Amino acid sequence: MPNYAIDQILIDASQLHHRVRAMGQEITAAYAETDALVLVGILRGALYFLADLSRAIEVPVQIDLISVASYSGTESSGTVTLLKDLDDEIQGKDVLIVEDIIDTGRTLHALLDHLRGHRPRSLGVCALLDKPDRRITPVPVDYVGFTIPDHFVVGYGLDYDQSYRNLPHIARLKPA
Ligand code: IMP
Ligand code: MG
Repeated sequence: MPNYAIDQILIDASQLHHRVRAMGQEITAAYAETDALVLVGILRGALYFLADLSRAIEVPVQIDLISVASYSGTESSGTVTLLKDLDDEIQGKDVLIVEDIIDTGRTLHALLDHLRGHRPRSLGVCALLDKPDRRITPVPVDYVGFTIPDHFVVGYGLDYDQSYRNLPHIARLKPA
């Protein structure tokens, strides 16, 4: 396994804070008429984003969590395995998927399929980061925090082999 080190900070904590607050306001306006907004966070990468975003949303929300595996190291395996499903029924509810980063799009594509099967009233997607250059499977994304170039990044929930999640910023990894 190659050794990796933090290269440079791409998005600092203050930029994250301000952008997440703005996204919260946008979502608040879009779901103003909703009485049942369910935020479905994707474990584990979306944890910090979900915690901050949910507190920036001013309509009532419920929170559920799904866990999928698709990555090993910095390479997507291409197959998406559901490790933990929803705890509560989402039928008839407005559902917003909260994802850390959209890369090839495979994870989101599989999740959208899965969640549609539960017949929510609406199904939206909110991602903190988007790497459009890497897209293999086109997916609809309603809210994006930052569009970034094709670099592997860590921090604010994102990991490299389970490390670096607790960095307060988004940083780039480079081979050491
Ligand atoms: P996709 O299925 O290729 O779109 O991959 C999505 C998932 O891969 C994300 O939810 C992340 O968990 C992980 N991932 C993709 N790019 C990165 C990255 O740059 N850093 C850390 N995790 C990533
Ligand atoms: Mg991950």
